[in-house]
Amino acid sequence: MKRKEYIELAKSLLETQPNQIALLANASAFINETIDTLNWAGFYLYDGEKLTVGPFQGKVACSVIELGKGVCGESALNLKTMVVDDVLAHDNHIACDANSRSEIVVPIVIKGKLFGVLDVDSPIKNRFDAELINFFEAFVDLLTNLIDF
Ligand code: SME
Repeated sequence: MKRKEYIELAKSLLETQPNQIALLANASAFINETIDTLNWAGFYLYDGEKLTVGPFQGKVACSVIELGKGVCGESALNLKTMVVDDVLAHDNHIACDANSRSEIVVPIVIKGKLFGVLDVDSPIKNRFDAELINFFEAFVDLLTNLIDF
């Protein structure tokens, strides 16, 4: 994967979006069409209390996730990237799409405050290697600069 090129491409496509919904909707579409073997890619947004589903690509997902619950809630609570190689072996996992086998969640922190998380699921175990983890963290860095908060 050419991480730098993908991030440059994402920047050129996403930097002119007119608002947050457009930005996050196109960001989820970009991930979905750029990275193969994924079954869900999108955002959960934090309102100061809980996470609520935002723009995404994939099957209908749970709408509300409490902080600490599931992989998304864990990442949001600890402000740390979570990589789960096998979701069936991870107790604190919320199964939205029964096809999911591995997952990465990257927190989005803006000006020191939790904004939400990027959540990406794959139907393949161990899908998220070091290269992809770096890519998704760089992608969230880019979004952090583009989100008007
Ligand atoms: N699996 C997630 C829930 C969200 S869906 O995957 C879209 C979790 O455990 O937080």
